[in-house]
Amino acid sequence: MTEVQRAAELLRAGELVAFPTETVYGLGADASNPSAVAKIFAAKGRPADHPLIVHLPEASHLVHWAVEIPDAAYQLAAAFWPGPLTLILKRAVAVSDTVTGGQETVGLRVPAHPLALDLLRTFNGGIAAPSANRFGHISPTTARHVSDELGERVSLILDGGPCAVGIESTILDLSRATPEILRPGAISADDIVRVTGTGIKLAPLGTTTDIPDTAGVPRVSGSLAAHYAPSTPLQLVSATEVLDCVTAALATGQRVAVLAFAPPPARLAGNPLCWRAADTDPATYAHDLYATLRELDATGCVRILVQRPPQDEVWRAVNDRLQRAAAGSGQS
Ligand code: TXA
Ligand code: MG
Repeated sequence: MTEVQRAAELLRAGELVAFPTETVYGLGADASNPSAVAKIFAAKGRPADHPLIVHLPEASHLVHWAVEIPDAAYQLAAAFWPGPLTLILKRAVAVSDTVTGGQETVGLRVPAHPLALDLLRTFNGGIAAPSANRFGHISPTTARHVSDELGERVSLILDGGPCAVGIESTILDLSRATPEILRPGAISADDIVRVTGTGIKLAPLGTTTDIPDTAGVPRVSGSLAAHYAPSTPLQLVSATEVLDCVTAALATGQRVAVLAFAPPPARLAGNPLCWRAADTDPATYAHDLYATLRELDATGCVRILVQRPPQDEVWRAVNDRLQRAAAGSGQS
């Protein structure tokens, strides 16, 4: 039996399997088995009213999970699946409340990682999977991150190497009159509009997209301000503030960690620095982000200073994750 076949058997038996996707690693359970899905919430320490994304082997499975599927869903699926786009659609009646958190909608996507697709095709059903981290922590982008986060709580971890995209999928709500991006990701609003040709709702740049639903429950758990967070306090600062803070910290014998776009200036040479030079390309920055935050978090520094990226559309998803990392940092 191959490892993927074993993983599919475990899913059929109601167990949890972690698997790589192109975005981040997922913690999977059989989406049609409520008691298996309940194990995800227990393993993550995630509140039960936070809905899960159901991963599908291909777009033809949409009809098993959603109703009143708009043409735009099929157009976007044809353009971007397999890929980092989650569609929120009206749920089919059979979809368990454990998956949807009791909402009238369901999140669906076909992931692009070959191992994820192999697993989904072998399992031949929907796999409910949030990111494979403890609730509120940084999402895992390697199999090692998953075992560090969840250890014995997961029956099997499929190792597909580091994730290509590195941040979670774009979430697009197609369940209401105007499509709305609930979480920015590698697929941008422009990418979507180019395919659908219709307008789209987007939060203003520089704000986080906190979108409570009518009952006051966050529709997207990633929309909680305190999310994706390291335990070391993290601050978003300017390039000048980075230098001022590092200089001040060195003077008092404190160690601060830095993620900045330039290497440290020559005048700081010889000092004990924990400094990462970030990539200036937003896709590469996103690819490296969570692994870098984990590494900086593990240095034992008293603070992580991150140089604020440009407030441009191309940096939207990265800025979104950094703001949440800052808001949730320093809590454990
Ligand atoms: O890239 C990804 O989307 C990764 C990989 C594993 O596919 N998954 C992921 O799952 O990020 P998770 O649970 O960490 O984040 C999914 C977000 C949650 O914040 C959840 O609230 C939101 O999707 N979501 C799921 N179903 C929803 C629904 N019906 N309405 C609104 N938001 C929903
Ligand atoms: Mg998550």
